[in-house]
Formats: sequence, structure tokens, C-alpha cells
Amino acid sequence: MLRKDFIRNASLAAASVAFVPTKDLFAAKADVKVKMGLIGVGARGLGHLDLLLRREDVEVVCICDVDSKTLNSAKRIATKSGKKMPEIFTGDNYAWKTMLDKNKLDGIVIATPWEWHKEMIIGSLDAGIKYVGSEVIIGISLEDHWEVVRAAEKHKANVMMLENVCYRRDVMAVLNMVRQGVFGELIHLQGGYQHDLRDVKFNGGSEVDKGVEFGEKGYSEAHWRTEHSVHRNGDLYPTHGVGPIANYININRGNRFTSLCSFSSKNRGLHNYIVKNGGENHPNAKVNFKLGDVVTTSINCVNGETILLQHDTNLPRPYSLGFRVQGTEGLWMDVNKSIYIQDKSAKPDQWEDAKQWLDKYDHPLWQRWSKETAGAGHGGMDFFVIHALVESIKYKTPTPLDVYDAATWSAISPLSEKSIDLGCQTVEFPDFTGGNWMYRKPVFALTDNY
Ligand SMILES: NC(=O)c1ccc[n+]([C@@H]2O[C@H](COP(=O)([O-])OP(=O)(O)OC[C@H]3O[C@@H](n4cnc5c(N)ncnc54)[C@H](O)[C@@H]3O)[C@@H](O)[C@H]2O)c1
Repeated sequence: MLRKDFIRNASLAAASVAFVPTKDLFAAKADVKVKMGLIGVGARGLGHLDLLLRREDVEVVCICDVDSKTLNSAKRIATKSGKKMPEIFTGDNYAWKTMLDKNKLDGIVIATPWEWHKEMIIGSLDAGIKYVGSEVIIGISLEDHWEVVRAAEKHKANVMMLENVCYRRDVMAVLNMVRQGVFGELIHLQGGYQHDLRDVKFNGGSEVDKGVEFGEKGYSEAHWRTEHSVHRNGDLYPTHGVGPIANYININRGNRFTSLCSFSSKNRGLHNYIVKNGGENHPNAKVNFKLGDVVTTSINCVNGETILLQHDTNLPRPYSLGFRVQGTEGLWMDVNKSIYIQDKSAKPDQWEDAKQWLDKYDHPLWQRWSKETAGAGHGGMDFFVIHALVESIKYKTPTPLDVYDAATWSAISPLSEKSIDLGCQTVEFPDFTGGNWMYRKPVFALTDNY
């Protein structure tokens, strides 16, 4: 589709969202340099650091982490960039507070373990930062999510969850198709996090050492993430699947989740992995993991769509987020990379290779920025979350994914835990927008700006 047609369609879809021609918008702000800080430069934060350092419109002022090894990697990346070395804050778990007290930042990126996100988001807002980008999952309990929403409202500030899958190229092409009505009226959607994480949840204490350690002896996510599999049973990582789905059906913007119900399978995967790789006498072979190997969640929407999410991280399997977007005219499924549209696909009731459709409906954001995505993580999509955060700061606009999106997507974790705890009962989905979902309009990816 031509860019000008996209912009016209997007503007119509946005209804009341003012459209500013991109050329004028960018000319006005070309010389702005935003001051950014980072908390957490582990596996994920280093990628964000690299993306921030690549930008001429960003100054990375300061970095905080508690791990000297990863801070050394961060310093190497900063040196290689040729930019001014950011000030480093470290020493204890609250060094980030000192960093926020000492620096006036326009924005911050948080890429720490999940259990730190709420405190660091609210701490950043309290320190006066108006743009907070947090890695996925913004809290553990349901109340955590409310606290983040209330803090963002109190400070009239932006909290954007850096949900990169919303920007995956095929996911965005499908968004484009959804908005053009190719699938008809949407009826049912599926997604999830289906990723064999056994060698992420366990290692031998370093990047290269294989092993079955976690907690104190584990490295990177094995240091903290695995504990969640010991103590919690639910969909612990819903946002990669639900983020794109929420954009497809305008959740919090004319639609909302109303109820949720989760089921958990038995668990064998993590225990078997320990026994296979560490032996049955390894102390971790005695650990009783609470997380079911496959957790399946159904969500109902006020506009009548159903959603099915699956969290599947403990068993051998190829990676797939398992998307299915199904409407009255046809469907896309990512696992077989196929599309079927009635009366348009070549043969009745037979899959077509999705590629030709995805190419045809390639989203203008990708058309415009694909050069800049080169080298960015996860096939380039990581570029867009940092880009969106920085551009929102430059233009003083709300972030395209906001605190209500973040809370709604991330709250699936505690809600699914509650449902399973109650014997797979259906639980009510809270409305973080306080009724405003009825009036809010779609804003995500309506132009080719960010
Ligand atoms: N969107 C994606 O594709 C994607 C991919 C990987 C990870 N993530 C998310 O990114 C986040 C971080 O994951 P990761 O893989 O980088 O984990 P990691 O363990 O490699 O990095 C976390 C970093 O936080 C630091 N940290 C811990 N406590 C701290 C504190 N109090 N103050 C300062 N620093 C502290 C650790 O030292 C570590 O360097 C998680 O939310 C994870 O789910 C997202």
C-alpha cells in the first residue's frame, strides 16, 4: 500500500486523533537531545543502551546496575559508540535512587528483574521523570498494577511498557490488514509465549557455563526468573502475546477485557531438565516447581471477541508466539505462516503462504524505518520501542502504548494465578481506565512516525 493511502486510512481510523504531516513534525525537532538514564543493563538493558547510544537525538546521561561485570560490558559499548561516557551508579540495590536524585532526566529505561519494576517505575515518577519506559511486566500483584496506574495519573506522566512484539514486522502488517478490514469483523484471537526457556532458567553461573543452577548461583535470568517458576502458577509472561492482540481489537480504546479464566497443566519440564543435565542427586532435583508446564488462559471482551493465551516455557519446543487472528472473512496463523481469506485466497478452504499478504500490507513504520532497524534485537523490532519512547519525549506527546495498556496486559499474570488458585474459576478483569475505555481512541501506529 502506498504511504499516502496508509496515512489517509490511518487518519480516518483515528477519527479524533489529530494528524500532523510527518515532514513538518520532524523538521521542527531535529536538534532536540533528550537526556536518558537506564536502570538495569543486563542481557536486555545492554541492547537498549546500544540503541540509545546510536541515536543523535539522545544523550545517555547515567546508568545504574548492581553487577560490575555487566557494567563493564555497558562501558565497553559506550566507549565503542564514541559518545560521552554515562555516569555509573552502583554499589547497592537502591543506587538508582541516588542516580535519580542527582540527575534531571527526560526519560528512563528500566530493564531489571520483574519484582523491581513497580518500585523503580514509581520511584522514577516521584523523581519527576515524565517518560518511563519499563521492560515487560510492570508488577507482581494486582495491587502493584493499580499503584503504577495511580502514580502515572498523579504525576500526569507516561509509563510505556516496552512491548517489542507489538512492532514485529508480520504483527504490524496484520494490524494494517485488520484496520483495512481484510479479516472482516474480528471474532477470535490467540497468542502466547511458547518458548523453551530451560537453558535461560538454568545455567552454570555465567553466560557460557551450562548447568542446572538458579537463584544465587544462577546467571542473568536464572538469577531471578526461575524463582517465579518455583513460587507461582499462572501465565507469568502474557504481554508478548496479548500486546499485539490488544492493538488488533482496540482494548482500552472502545473495547475492554471483562473476564479471565486460566488452566494449568501438571509440571514435569523443569524437574526433568535438572535430572537429565545435573543428575537425580543434584540438590535442585528436589525443588518443587509450582508453575505448570502449559498454562492456558481464556479472556472475554466486552465487544464479544474471545482470546486464548498460552504460556509454555518448560518443555522442548521450537519458539512460537502462536498468533491467530480470525474474523468473519478469514484468518492469519503465524505458526504455519499462513493466511486464508474467503473469496480472495487462491483455493477454497486452503492455506496460502502469508508472505505475499504481509509484503503487500507491510506497515509504513517498517517501510520508513527498516534501515534503522538493522542490527537491533529480535529481528529489528527492538528499535521501535526505544524510538517510540524517545520521539514521544521529543514531541511531548503521550507514548503510543500507555500505562493503561501496560497495566491491562501485565495484570493477566496475577489474575491467571488467582483463577488457578480458585480452581480455574472465571475472575473479573479490572478496568484500569475507570470507564474511559468507552471514550479513548486508538493511537498505536497510526502514522509512520513512531
Ligand atoms: N522484550 C523482550 O524481548 C525481552 C527480552 C529479554 C528480557 N526482557 C525483560 O527485560 C527485563 C530484564 O531481563 P534481562 O534478561 O535483562 O535480565 P538480566 O538478569 O540479564 O538483567 C537484569 C539486570 O538488572 C540488574 N539489577 C537487579 N537488581 C537491580 C537493582 N536493584 N538496581 C539496579 N540494577 C539491578 C541486574 O544486575 C542485571 O544486570 C525483564 O523484565 C525481562 O522480562 C524482555
